[in-house]
Order: sequence, then C-alpha cells, then structure tokens
Amino acid sequence: MDLNIRGKVAVVTASSRGLGKATAEALAAEGVNLAICSRDEAAINRTAGAIKEKYQVEVLAEVCDVKDRSGIENFKDKVIRHFSTCHILFANAGGPAPGKVEQFSEEDFREALDLNLFSAINLVTAFLPFMKQQKWGRILASTSISVKQPIPTLALSNVSRAGVVAFIKSLSREIASLNVTANTLAPGFIMTERVENLLENQAENQGITYDEALANIIDTIPAKRIAAPEDFGALCAFLASEWASYITGETILIDGGMYRGLM
Ligand SMILES: NC(=O)c1ccc[n+]([C@@H]2O[C@H](COP(=O)([O-])OP(=O)(O)OC[C@H]3O[C@@H](n4cnc5c(N)ncnc54)[C@H](OP(=O)(O)O)[C@@H]3O)[C@@H](O)[C@H]2O)c1
Repeated sequence: MDLNIRGKVAVVTASSRGLGKATAEALAAEGVNLAICSRDEAAINRTAGAIKEKYQVEVLAEVCDVKDRSGIENFKDKVIRHFSTCHILFANAGGPAPGKVEQFSEEDFREALDLNLFSAINLVTAFLPFMKQQKWGRILASTSISVKQPIPTLALSNVSRAGVVAFIKSLSREIASLNVTANTLAPGFIMTERVENLLENQAENQGITYDEALANIIDTIPAKRIAAPEDFGALCAFLASEWASYITGETILIDGGMYRGLM
C-alpha cells in the first residue's frame, strides 16, 4: 500500500538508533525527507548517511538534546531553514533510569519530566504552527505501555509519560479540524539498546542471567516474542500516512497482547 506521503518532511527526534531510527527508516522507505537528531554527533551522522544511501531521500542530521528547550528551538530553526516546513513530527526521547518510586528525589522526577514530557510539549510548540498553516500534519509522541499499566521497576517513566497522553489528547481536540492528528504510541517490549540495558539491570538485581531475564519477560507476552524496531516503525509510518487522517487522540499499544486491561 502506498502511504501517500512521498515528498513530505518528517522531524524524528532521538533517532540515531532504536525506535526513532526505525521510524525514520520506515518514513524514508515511503519517500519522506527527514530531519533527525540525537546528542551524539557521530552516531546521528552515521544513521543519516545509512538512510540517505538506502532510500535516496534528503536527511538533515543535527545534534540536539531534547531535554533542552533552547536546543529544540535551535533545531527547529535549522529544520525550517532547510525544508521550510514540517508535516510529520515523531516526538521521541531516551528513557529515564530504572528504579522504584522511593529511590528517586524530586530532582530526578523533574529531570524525567524534562526528558519525556517537556520535550514533547516543546517539540509540538516548535513544529505545530507549520502544520496548522498548511492544514496537514501528523504528530506522534512516544510513551510506553506504562501509561496503561505502570511498570513496577520504572517509576520515573510511569510518572513522566502519563502527562504526555493528557497533553496529546487535549491537543488533538483543538487541532483536528485543521487536518492535524495527534496520537501517542505505547510500546510494550521492542528489542533496542534500551531494552537490552533494562534486561541487564533486571538480571543484576535478581541475581539471574540475561537470558533468564529475557525469558521471564517473554513469558508475560501473549505473542511470546519481543518485537523488532521495524514493527514499531511500520505502525508510525501508517499513523503518519494519508490513510490515518481519521485517527486522532488515541494511545496505540504495540505490545504483543501484554496489556491485561479491557480498554
Ligand atoms: N524499546 C522499547 O521497548 C520501549 C518500550 C517503552 C517505551 N520506550 C521508550 O521509547 C523511547 C525510545 O526508546 P528506544 O528503545 O529506542 O531507546 P534507545 O535504544 O536507548 O535509543 C534512544 C535514542 O534516543 C537518543 N537520545 C537519548 N536521549 C536523548 C536526548 N536527551 N536528546 C536527544 N536524543 C536522545 C539516543 O541517541 P544519543 O545517545 O545519541 O542521544 C538514541 O538514538 C524511550 O523513551 C523509551 O523509554 C521504549
């Protein structure tokens, strides 16, 4: 199926690897030009080079820490100077450190909010005006299955992501009539460096091997596997497509059936 977004411009943040990179690749495969960023210059340039070579699209790669509002402003200026507009935004960031509620200070919670909530707010603030003006836009924000079912060992993530859902849901109603959709993605377990690190952490805390920690997680997933980043990228590309124009204000799980609730 042609997703009908060839030639559009997508901003995909935190995209040198993992879910951001997979989303950038899935969009590039549809002929979408990209502005990508992460904190490590060599890593983001490597990713940009690989995508350009494979998909023959334009890729602007910048260093940007999405925790930093002025960094986002600076990134936006470069994107607009280069592409003049933005049609698709995937507001993505790294994940906060694992741990339980009582392990963390107020400062830790504030940092997690900067990383996962305020980055999304600041990215939307930067790029939404262009979508409104052209009456076409797709906003996607990364969260986690934890917005439906908090994960006991990820207190910072549980707290910081709930606000993203409230932000995107509130926003979606304000902009729907302008043909701009806004949705949140809620992945369960998708095999990236982040998940590898979390498994290493669980193995260490529980005195088990990495493979045992992996088997324990897979046991909780009805699909009996951890997804590949490409599974996530394909979902994002569809939600960014012309065909997803009537899907907005949703939190979409991609979890192999792991969430146990009804709604
Ligand atoms: N994978 C999963 O199963 C899963 C499940 C639920 C939620 N999530 C969440 O989804 C998001 C992406 O996860 P992932 O698995 O792709 O993580 P990952 O494999 O650790 O990749 C993180 C990416 O974000 C970049 N990054 C980290 N902090 C950044 C910052 N402050 N500013 C800009 N870029 C930053 C990293 O590059 P640099 O190091 O170069 O900055 C890297 O490209 C995270 O918030 C994660 O917690 C993932």
